[in-house]
Amino acid sequence: MLDKSSYRPHGLEPIERASRDEIMGLQTERLKWTLKHAYDNVPAYRKKFDAAGVHPDDFVRIEDLARFPFTAKQDLRDNYPFGMFAVPHDKVVRVHASSGTTGKPTVVGYTQNDVDIWAHVMARSIRASGGRPGMKVHVSYGYGLFTGGLGAHYGAERLGCTVIPVSGGMTERQVQLICDFAPEIIMVTPSYMLAILDEFRAKGIDPKASSLQIGIFGAEPWTNAMRAEIEEAFDMDAVDIYGLSEVIGPGVANECVETKDGLHVWEDHFYPEIIDPESGRVLPDGERGELVFTSLTKEAMPVIRYRTRDLTRLLPGTARMMRRMEKVTGRSDDMMIVRGVNVFPTQIEEQLLRCEGLAPHYQIELFRENRLDVMRLMVEARPDHASEAARAGQAAALAAHIRSVIGIGVDVVVGDPGAIERSAGKARRILDKRPKD
Ligand code: DLL
Repeated sequence: MLDKSSYRPHGLEPIERASRDEIMGLQTERLKWTLKHAYDNVPAYRKKFDAAGVHPDDFVRIEDLARFPFTAKQDLRDNYPFGMFAVPHDKVVRVHASSGTTGKPTVVGYTQNDVDIWAHVMARSIRASGGRPGMKVHVSYGYGLFTGGLGAHYGAERLGCTVIPVSGGMTERQVQLICDFAPEIIMVTPSYMLAILDEFRAKGIDPKASSLQIGIFGAEPWTNAMRAEIEEAFDMDAVDIYGLSEVIGPGVANECVETKDGLHVWEDHFYPEIIDPESGRVLPDGERGELVFTSLTKEAMPVIRYRTRDLTRLLPGTARMMRRMEKVTGRSDDMMIVRGVNVFPTQIEEQLLRCEGLAPHYQIELFRENRLDVMRLMVEARPDHASEAARAGQAAALAAHIRSVIGIGVDVVVGDPGAIERSAGKARRILDKRPKD
């Protein structure tokens, strides 16, 4: 763990200490620029604005943003690969893409200035997590079209850290390098961090004795219960980082290590709104709904009111003046409706982590039996609780927790240690085997 007594939030940028009025003044100015930039240079935006009967000149105050149409992933697909770009190709220095489980990937582009701003917000994120110049950063987010690896890489360099660009996979080697190079920081998905933890234990190395002090975890939902599990195992601070490729990549919002109370949105570059996913109405701060972002400085691919599908709410700033978003509990696409009850994988995760004899790995299978939805939760025993009797007891306890807290019946299967598929990046939590009807 970091020695918090010596922690000083030194080196904050002026905008991180600016008043709400100053932040909103800057946002208004930048929104005006972005709306005009998108309208003038991206035919798809011009068409959408025209169809909605709005023009960038209609934007005067922040509230006016609500008059502009939303953008969805489908808009990026319809304009695949480069149709959403707002600058000529010779100004685009980088592209990334999100794999997407169905159909074509969505492609995003960056000018040199965009890459610089991305490095800047990532450096700010790492610093908010407790990182300081001179620290070594082990990056296990995947490098490539996924934005995690390169985003973390450029940010850590910008902060003045030493980057160890490992990428995902080859878990034994991850552990070897952590032991040999002694990084203070690791950046990785929380689910892959658990696989790294297992490997420490399998090798008989005490994770608490490792050099790691800070973990910056994101790219998928994870609970505070999971945070406690990882912090305890490694004796480290675990901090949440959020982002999405359409908006820039990681570094859209980050928790501050001194409060760990939600993620401060870097509002000087990304304007957040929460909407009712059904009606599209903008909800006031504090209410839960779908997170929507408008980029404020992006040149190559501005996004206007991009619907993330992530569910959260906006809260006032604490450690920083910029507003916080609550930890994302799930995506609307990950919501399972089981016999009429809405369930997110994170709710299952919370209950699983209450069971001492079970490892924190899990996968949810949905199928249909006699025309009824059935949820099978596949988990695994911890090595020291793997006897048949212990497993039966744990399965019953977990099913009882889920029934009493979430209100659904699940069929819990406790497998051998190591039975659940490990992923080197984002975990695949749901296997939906129900017939599509
Ligand atoms: O996952 C960018 C990223 C890389 C963020 C590394 C953090 C760390 P995409 O692949 O485009 O980009 O996926 C974006 O991942 O809309 C959320 O559903 C989910 N997600 C990202 N961060 C978090 C988080 C990267 N901290 C999608 N908590 C987003 C929950 C997250 N979900």
